[in-house]
Amino acid sequence: MKHVLITGCTRGLGLEMARGFVSRNWIVSGCGTNYGAVDALSDELGPQHRIHRCDVCDLDHVAAFANDILSTLGPPDLLLNNAAVINPNAPLWEVSPEDFSRVIDVNLKGVHLICRAFIPAMITRGSGVVVNFSSGWGRSTSPGVAPYCTTKWGIEGMTQALSQELPSRLAAVALNPGIIDTDMLRLTFGGGASSYPDPADWAVTAVPFLENLGPNDNGKALTAP
Ligand SMILES: NC(=O)c1ccc[n+]([C@@H]2O[C@H](COP(=O)([O-])OP(=O)(O)OC[C@H]3O[C@@H](n4cnc5c(N)ncnc54)[C@H](OP(=O)(O)O)[C@@H]3O)[C@@H](O)[C@H]2O)c1
Repeated sequence: MKHVLITGCTRGLGLEMARGFVSRNWIVSGCGTNYGAVDALSDELGPQHRIHRCDVCDLDHVAAFANDILSTLGPPDLLLNNAAVINPNAPLWEVSPEDFSRVIDVNLKGVHLICRAFIPAMITRGSGVVVNFSSGWGRSTSPGVAPYCTTKWGIEGMTQALSQELPSRLAAVALNPGIIDTDMLRLTFGGGASSYPDPADWAVTAVPFLENLGPNDNGKALTAP
């Protein structure tokens, strides 16, 4: 059975991808920061899957998470760097240093820590695909979300450089998932979020699309169907 690792799988796109991959007979490992949601998903998915409480920007959390996952399930075939946060809507000059740092820490430094923890084992095995979740706001911009745009444009650059570093049978891609009605979208769009697709519907086409990514996709900036 193939193994997918999904950061931020307690809500939104990550949760529905976890459910979708399990239904397609993948082994799922993943993490979130909410204890109750982590326990609920562990119970739902069952003991062969491994869902941890892990803050992706905490070095000790990531080390413990990687130690457990690599020693029990081995390196992932598919590594989905999905966990992210968005700043409350505000012009850049009104964003607090704390809010700006949090978005950078989770969306960029967290992706680096997870790559650092898992890619060496993928390289040793000689296969695997890394998908870094970008955004439409990793390729365009809007007012009010400058910190988030900063990180998603950063994800595009990080992923391009990573794709040039990986050995030939591995791949790294940046993925714009589209616009989906999740907690993150509601924070930004308010009630307008409800006119966008439900994450469970999104996952019906996104999971098979992700499942089919391979070495030939290395370096691509993709958009989910
Ligand atoms: N929804 C959209 O329309 C949209 C559009 C473009 C791009 N995206 C991207 O798609 C991805 C998923 O977004 P979403 O809409 O599903 O977001 P979401 O509903 O806000 O869910 C975010 C997930 O990330 C986890 N998370 C947040 N901070 C974390 C941390 N420090 N460590 C570990 N997990 C953390 C959350 O879990 P806990 O609560 O347990 O921490 C949650 O499971 C993100 O990368 C986002 O930027 C989404």
